[in-house]
Amino acid sequence: MKLDMKILLILFFIIYYCTATTILDQINDDHYLFVKKLNQLPNSEIKKICDDMERSLFNPYRCVNNTDTTNPHLFDGLSVEEYTKLLLFKNRDKKSPFTLNFNNNLKGDKRSTLQNLKPVILVPGIAGSGLEAKLHKETSPSWYCWKNSNWFRLWLNLAEIAVQKCFFDNLDLVYQPNGTFTNAPGVDIRPMDFGGVKGVAYLDYITSFPITLTDVFGSMIKFFKTLGYKEGQNIRGAPYDFRLGVDSLQENGWMGDFQELIEQTYSMNGNQRVNVISHSMGGLVTLYFLNSMTYEWKEKYIEAFIPIAVPWGGAAKALRALTSGDTFGIPLISVERMKSLAQSSSGLLQLTPDDLIFDPDHVFIYTPTENYTISNLQLLFDNLGLSYINDNMYSSVINGMVPNVTTHCLYGYGVKTEIAYNYPNGLNGKPQIIDSNYGDGTVPLESLKYCATFQSSQLQPVTIEEFNLAEHVGIIQSKQVFESLYQILSNQ
Ligand SMILES: *[C@@H]1O[C@H](CO)[C@@H](O)[C@H](O)[C@H]1NC(C)=O
Ligand SMILES: *[C@@H]1O[C@H](CO)[C@@H](O)[C@H](O)[C@H]1NC(C)=O
Ligand SMILES: *[C@@H]1O[C@H](CO)[C@@H](O)[C@H](O)[C@H]1NC(C)=O
Ligand SMILES: *[C@@H]1O[C@H](CO)[C@@H](O)[C@H](O)[C@H]1NC(C)=O
Repeated sequence: MKLDMKILLILFFIIYYCTATTILDQINDDHYLFVKKLNQLPNSEIKKICDDMERSLFNPYRCVNNTDTTNPHLFDGLSVEEYTKLLLFKNRDKKSPFTLNFNNNLKGDKRSTLQNLKPVILVPGIAGSGLEAKLHKETSPSWYCWKNSNWFRLWLNLAEIAVQKCFFDNLDLVYQPNGTFTNAPGVDIRPMDFGGVKGVAYLDYITSFPITLTDVFGSMIKFFKTLGYKEGQNIRGAPYDFRLGVDSLQENGWMGDFQELIEQTYSMNGNQRVNVISHSMGGLVTLYFLNSMTYEWKEKYIEAFIPIAVPWGGAAKALRALTSGDTFGIPLISVERMKSLAQSSSGLLQLTPDDLIFDPDHVFIYTPTENYTISNLQLLFDNLGLSYINDNMYSSVINGMVPNVTTHCLYGYGVKTEIAYNYPNGLNGKPQIIDSNYGDGTVPLESLKYCATFQSSQLQPVTIEEFNLAEHVGIIQSKQVFESLYQILSNQ
């Protein structure tokens, strides 16, 4: 009976959701049509979608009114009236035309396959891993939430998000008196398809919304397949529980599984050394892992470490997510619940800005009563009512670490990036965003380019490649980057 009711409820939400989002369906094919349809929605709906985008760490698009009347650029199928009402701009940069490139069309690629397919392992960024849950709970927040279940996809899963009470009750971490974060009682969580690619390719359900997060390594895997790679054989995924910090991944055995995956991939492919391609937070996880391995082990198993768009010294956006929440661009999700998830996520805490990179006196958060810098971050957490957070949780986890393997560091730049926030009505109010430097739209440039310091701390080669106007997530779907990866692999 309860199960039936849950299914009914989910169906209801799906129907509701689909009606609310059919306007977004065309986005993959036609961005202009999306804008046009967006403009036909009631203002309250537009506001909601725009607010969601505004709060997103990952979605590079923002709504703005077209105030630039000198811009003669009108789009096919949009009347002047519609055009002037509302537009989506990348990173609120009013000058940039909207260029969507969700689907890199690789069909026309005539590039020959690689002769020697060196195995590749993909490590995604925050929120980029599929997670599965299994329930055996004593209590649940509502009669329509499951208490018992076999493994099911939790992150990301539309039906689960539709019943947010249940979703967050399963996903929230619990702070323990001994200083660790654990899953909610009666909830087991594991990365999806570890060693395969299902957990790192697409976060499938949001295919109808313009969220770059939808495609994680999907396009890149497609690209590798055009070179002759095979899923699960020489291209494999290492998804992980991104809610957790690197030390917890060590404690819960994930780092050991990662080691095994690399060794197994090496032997499955005729003892060929492995390339580890890591995106964003995945680069920190990989560096931490490499640092824990002996030089001999790395020499034997690792061909190269290829970190892409890694926030080595953190990013201001992590502070925004902790202070006022972030929806990751997921429409209709509760920002308050996302905020509390962020606040219990040791993984996100490790992405806060570090003095490794930033001036200790740089103000990240302005409020009428207090300004917050790296030097008084603890005060920020105390004032947010999060005094269980201590500096072990947010100070740099990679300070002094070097990969000590051949490293090819790739990142984007030239995109306006958030660097500070003003909360004129205090921490509970809405922030005004201050962007002042040019990074990849999510991570400031100083943080991205920290990998250059490896050059002087290790003997193995470190190459740096910068991509103009490559966005934090878009970069792992960019043809230019695929071309570089091809060069790197074919020169090995
Ligand atoms: C655009 O401008 C109109 C009229 O000034 C305003 O009501 C609306 O909220 C604005 N929309 C956005 C997304 O700023
Ligand atoms: C901390 O407490 C939790 C819950 O009681 C337990 O599962 C975990 O093993 C403990 N961790 C350490 C490091 O003591
Ligand atoms: C780094 O690599 C060098 C050889 O290039 C080796 O001698 C050294 O021990 C390594 N350091 C670490 C921390 O593994
Ligand atoms: C915060 O910094 C601004 C700019 O430097 C300054 O004008 C303001 O007085 C500071 N506020 C507090 C509460 O220290």
